[in-house]
Amino acid sequence: MSHHYQNQQLMLEDAAVADLADQFGTPLYLYSRAAIEQAYQAFASPLKGRKHLICFAVKANSNLAVLNLLARLGAGFDIVSGGELARVLAAGGDPAKVVFSGVGKTRSEMAQALKAGIHCFNVESVAELDRLNGVAGELGLVAPISIRVNPDVDAKTHPYIATGLKENKFGIDILMAPDAFRKAASLPNLKVLGVDCHIGSQLTETEPFVAALKRLLALREQLQADGIELAHIDIGGGLGVTYTDEQPPKPADYLAEILPLIPAGLTLVLEPGRALVANAGLLVGRVEMTKDNGFKRFVILDTGMNDLMRPTLYQAVMPVLPINQAQQNGPLSDLVGPVCETGDWLAKDVPLGAEEGDLVAIGGAGAYGFVMSSQYNSRPRAAEVMVQGSQAVLIRQRETVESLWAGEQLLPEASC
Ligand code: LLP
Repeated sequence: MSHHYQNQQLMLEDAAVADLADQFGTPLYLYSRAAIEQAYQAFASPLKGRKHLICFAVKANSNLAVLNLLARLGAGFDIVSGGELARVLAAGGDPAKVVFSGVGKTRSEMAQALKAGIHCFNVESVAELDRLNGVAGELGLVAPISIRVNPDVDAKTHPYIATGLKENKFGIDILMAPDAFRKAASLPNLKVLGVDCHIGSQLTETEPFVAALKRLLALREQLQADGIELAHIDIGGGLGVTYTDEQPPKPADYLAEILPLIPAGLTLVLEPGRALVANAGLLVGRVEMTKDNGFKRFVILDTGMNDLMRPTLYQAVMPVLPINQAQQNGPLSDLVGPVCETGDWLAKDVPLGAEEGDLVAIGGAGAYGFVMSSQYNSRPRAAEVMVQGSQAVLIRQRETVESLWAGEQLLPEASC
């Protein structure tokens, strides 16, 4: 992790977080460039010498500077919308390294991706096969596809972020997959490239990944018998990170279990999101005031659920990092935001000595942080800054209040 305390002051790389908050204001998202680079290399190094493609799941953090950094490192991208494709291209990403996931691709998104020349569509239903075949035919193009299989494996994670069970909307049931592949192979404007799955997010064990992979490999053999050859196998993302005391396998350990199972010649595609960026990021807020109602002490920040949804949406426990380390030893407090919702909390029952005017950061905020933020309660969204050594670059301006209603308009006089 690239944040640490130095003389009791919170640092990100060689920059003091307090100085950055003074310079850019709060609420503030900070990302460490070195942490992203290290996380990428943690996947890329064990894959040296193997045919592979690391496709960063853009949904985890879609800031152009983050995408550009990953593109420069050689990453491909896993996208789920035309908007994400446009971001990847604007950030200098290579369309030939893009896989397109998602259960509801529109015709125009399909056309956009076909024209851009993406690596492959991760198709999630038979209806999508037909639709894609039609769109490709109209454009006189052939769509490269993989079929997303639902392997019915329990990822043992929060139900909102488990995706590989029968009751989830994702993929095609593994028992129905052979028929779907046969159909895909028979359609004139599709070319079958691979098979994929994504069983869930924030997994802290390797076993469900291995179980899913084995099911996909068995399917591959079945398809070979039908004369359908796959060029790649895509095992999705999902590797967990340490927020507080979780102990997920390191990328190298996870890959050490996966790689021996992959037959030579087959390209391994991965779609990590969280594992590449979560621990590169901090969300920094300033304490507006504190209050003790005799039952509980509340530390009220200028940032809350509108900037970081994970605690209230998934009961996610994220590390609380007061800018002054000594404040980790204060009274038990709930860290809450200014939004008018009971669910507007960032942490519960944490020891925290912060008082009015002090700064508090939340760790692990680089993934599913800013991207899930909103302007609820008419709060402009935070600024984003990339830190490199002692340098800092503003990579997204803080929104202005006026921008909140850009695009809105008053009713014309006559309609009143
Ligand atoms: N591939 C596909 C098809 C996905 O649906 C996802 C995440 C990923 C890759 C990347 O998964 P990761 O490596 O980041 O676990 N907002 C939630 C997480 C939702 C994940 C959705 N899909 C959270 O904050 O925990």
